[in-house]
Amino acid sequence: MHASFSMNYPDCISVLVNKTHSLPSWYCPKDLYLPNIPFSENHFHPKKLLRFHAAYAINQLFTEARKHNYFFYGVSGFRSYQRQKNIYEKNLATKGKIHTELYSAKPGHSEHQTGLAMDVSISSLQYDLLPEFGDTKEGIWLSKNCHRFGFILRYPKDKSHITGYHYEPWHIRYIGPVLALFLFENHLTLEEYMLGLVIK
Ligand code: DAL
Ligand code: ZN
Repeated sequence: MHASFSMNYPDCISVLVNKTHSLPSWYCPKDLYLPNIPFSENHFHPKKLLRFHAAYAINQLFTEARKHNYFFYGVSGFRSYQRQKNIYEKNLATKGKIHTELYSAKPGHSEHQTGLAMDVSISSLQYDLLPEFGDTKEGIWLSKNCHRFGFILRYPKDKSHITGYHYEPWHIRYIGPVLALFLFENHLTLEEYMLGLVIK
C-alpha cells in the first residue's frame, strides 16, 4: 500500500479530510461513543457521538475546563455522509454558494464524518456557533488548552487560505496529544503538516 494512502486511511486518528481529501460515502467509524459531557440539546441524537479516543479526551478536556469555571457544551459531533449531504444542500438553498463553501463541507469532505470533530459552544451564546466565541474567555481558554487533550482548532482565523474555510473557533478536531502539541507549538494546520504546504 502506498505510504501516503495508509497515512490517510479513514480510521487513522490523524486522517486529513478537507476540500481535496475525502472519505468514502460508506465510511462510518465503528467505535462511536456518547461522551460524558453536557450538550446543547437534551434528547439523544447520533450527532452527540465521537470515536472512542476522542470521546474520552473531550470528557477530560471539559472536566479540566470546569475546574477553571469554563462550562462548555457539545453541539455537533459525528455526522453521517447522508446527514452532511442534507446540511450542505440546505445551506446551499438558504445561504447561497459563497457562504456555504466557506462554512460547510460537501458530503464526504467533512471531518464530522470521521467522528473525531466536535462543535462546542457556551450558554451565554445560546449554544450558537459564532465567530464571537473565539473572543470569549471560554473560547480563548479552549484555543490555548485543547491541544493538551489531543484536540486542535481546525480552522484558525489566519489560515483560511490553507484550510479553505472561514474561522471556526468552535470546531475542535481530535488528532492525539503528541501531534496536537506539535501543531500548536509550531502554529501549523493539519494541511501544512500532512502535505508540507507552504502557502503565503
Ligand atoms: N464546518 C465544517 C467545515 C464542516 O462542515 O465539516
Ligand atoms: Zn464543525
